[in-house]
Amino acid sequence: AQKLIIDTDPGVDDAFAIALAALGSDVELLGVTSVYGNVPLSATTINARRLLALCKRPDVPVAAGAARPLVHRHPNEAGQVHGADGLSGRSAALPEPSRPLDERDAVTLMADLLEASDEPVTIAPIGPLTNIAALLAAHPATAEKIERIVIMGGALGHGNSTAAAEFNVWSDPEAAHRVLTGGEAPCVLVPMDLTYRCAVDAAWLGKLDSSGPIGAALHALTPDYREHYRGALGWDGMVIHDAVAVAEAILPGTLRTERVPVQVECSFGPGRGATHADRRLPALRASTDDSDPAAEVEVAVDTDLDALRGLLLD
Ligand code: BDR
Ligand code: CA
Repeated sequence: AQKLIIDTDPGVDDAFAIALAALGSDVELLGVTSVYGNVPLSATTINARRLLALCKRPDVPVAAGAARPLVHRHPNEAGQVHGADGLSGRSAALPEPSRPLDERDAVTLMADLLEASDEPVTIAPIGPLTNIAALLAAHPATAEKIERIVIMGGALGHGNSTAAAEFNVWSDPEAAHRVLTGGEAPCVLVPMDLTYRCAVDAAWLGKLDSSGPIGAALHALTPDYREHYRGALGWDGMVIHDAVAVAEAILPGTLRTERVPVQVECSFGPGRGATHADRRLPALRASTDDSDPAAEVEVAVDTDLDALRGLLLD
């Protein structure tokens, strides 16, 4: 089974991603770390713990991480998308966790889990990249245990937080740049261009609702989020960005990727937080390339959409 750590800011689509990892048979979920993001850290942390309680996984430790970006402070939240508590106002209806919050901070828990593992571990960051940048900076030796960092984030075309930038990268561009260009561990970037194409519709959500108590509980978290995406998509459905990335983290090859250099725009101005993926033909790239070759990452560009939706529902 694939060993996995999830770093998350639940978040309705984070909830789907956590459930996928907590309930899947091909995955050994070692730990979950929380980060500020969709809602403040205190809310994302209790949401992560309640979601694991819903999935009956008291064996999985949860540790709290960063409450703000590495360098700059943004009042950057997405309560208007996910609901004020991050879960369409339904967080308190989830089961209370029996396992206490881990006493370690997120970075220490991740480092301890990596050091203790005798097999490589995949990390799936599905929120701002602050904790992951801090892990690589503070514990560089643990990088050799990291098989892949499969990131939900970035936009090849337009963004969602701004015209240029996707939410997770825009929340902490310096951290994203550090992780993607540091060369310490192989990165896979799952950008919103692809996650939007994997949106699920009302029929899919109906099947989830009638699949059993956990499916019904997940479905109950969706009303505010679904209402947002009704506007964003123009039809009744929703985008479960983070679950697409976690599917790839659990089953490598679920998404088709291209290996290209990626840099994050860290200047201030309308381009801040943009992910510049250089998808030119290699010959053209070679003629003008001034990017760092260490910054090549796998960017997810395509998948079998129906097969993926089926996999997520299963
Ligand atoms: C990302 O931003 C958050 O709102 C979602 O949970 C997802 O991780 C999509 O841009
Ligand atoms: Ca998220």
